[in-house]
Amino acid sequence: MGTIQIKTTIPGPKSKALAERRDHAVPRGLSHGTPVYVAKAEDAWLEDVDGNRYIDFAGGIGCINVGHRREPVIAAIREQLDRYLHTCVQVTPYENYVRLAERMNQVTPGRFPKKTLFVNSGAEAIENAVKIARAHTGRPGIIAFEDAFHGRTMMTLALTSKTHPYKAGFAPFPSDVYRIPYAYCYRCSYSLKYPSCDVFCARHLEDTFKRVVASEEVAAVIAEPVLGEGGFVVPPKEFFRILIDICHKHGVLFIADEVQSGFGRTGKLFASEHYGIEPDIVVTAKSLGGGLPLAAVTGRAEIMDAPGPGGLGGTFAGNPLSCAAALAVLDLFERENLLARANELGNRFQERAREWQERWSMIGDVRGLGGMQAIELVQSAEKREPAPEETKQIVQYCYEHGLIVLSAGSYSNVIRVLVPLVASDAQMDEGLDVLEAALQAVSEKKAVVAQPV
Ligand SMILES: Cc1ncc(COP(=O)(O)O)c(C=O)c1O
Repeated sequence: MGTIQIKTTIPGPKSKALAERRDHAVPRGLSHGTPVYVAKAEDAWLEDVDGNRYIDFAGGIGCINVGHRREPVIAAIREQLDRYLHTCVQVTPYENYVRLAERMNQVTPGRFPKKTLFVNSGAEAIENAVKIARAHTGRPGIIAFEDAFHGRTMMTLALTSKTHPYKAGFAPFPSDVYRIPYAYCYRCSYSLKYPSCDVFCARHLEDTFKRVVASEEVAAVIAEPVLGEGGFVVPPKEFFRILIDICHKHGVLFIADEVQSGFGRTGKLFASEHYGIEPDIVVTAKSLGGGLPLAAVTGRAEIMDAPGPGGLGGTFAGNPLSCAAALAVLDLFERENLLARANELGNRFQERAREWQERWSMIGDVRGLGGMQAIELVQSAEKREPAPEETKQIVQYCYEHGLIVLSAGSYSNVIRVLVPLVASDAQMDEGLDVLEAALQAVSEKKAVVAQPV
């Protein structure tokens, strides 16, 4: 018997009842990828309140790389739970914050002295990275990319690219943010082709400093090494090297947002390692906490020390439970071959997805790095018009048939895989079988109706 068990129509009666209560109690601005309420989750699966069991290709949006409720993570949290929950690191600091900072300084890319600050969320970490970069350089400007996602707070919304639903209606945003095209080769903003383009989009940063904003007004360029919400876009291998060289020539810092691409997702601990780059600041979150909220800003020691005492912090920032969990996560990466597993799972996805691409012209692009894999859906392979409606139907078919999967992309037409790296081959295949059936159903424009089994 497989992992998936669907016993009711989806959503089941208990999920439906909760959704009704939710509608009265919670603002509609908080949306849900599926209509099912979770009761329990382990390793690479979760069960809803109606007893339906799903394979989880979402992992709480990339937070569960080491698996749901891994025993060493739970044990570390329990051990901390029995000692103290919260004292505030700004009042009475604790050892596991310092130990985790030491380990982050060791494992992040860059062979130079580093320091690490912990906060609660990816967005909060990006906010702090911007503060630190500005304090160090004394410059205001930040250059971000088209299709970037950096969070939902006001500064991170200014850095984020996608208008609906993230930015529209929430202006004004903080100023001094400039935007340039990312190396999204499938939809190149310059209509060029790699490699004959000579990575023009990266070299064009020089031009930006002449025509858009003077480099001496720019503190940092911020980029995701692989786009997350923007659709799992993987730039050519030279892209970041060229960008960073131009940045450093002008005294501009390079910040890597590894919130989604980090912690083993791409088959290396950090996606930056694939490009052989050493960012001045690396921002991490999501899978760092093994399921608890935690984010980190790690950077060159002299940059991190730019803000004065009291300039950084937050009441719950670097909470002891989250630090304990993160130390256990790092132990797991040392003990288990999760990086190799990310590559194996990614290869398994690519093999199937390439077959699908042969079969269905709706699949415009198959791409990814390690276990960070996606397909981009289009109306036709020639014109590449995005297919967001079909993407939505595929996501729905999947959860109705036992697979939790998320969409992504500026055009909401990408299906992405963030499966916990502990998924077995059988679970991966079972999930891919559901995705294949969804593609079949939607490409044939079959009615998408949940069937109890
Ligand atoms: C690349 C990236 N940066 C920042 C964020 C914001 O993180 P959080 O939702 O923890 O604030 C996200 C969230 O998806 C992300 O993918």
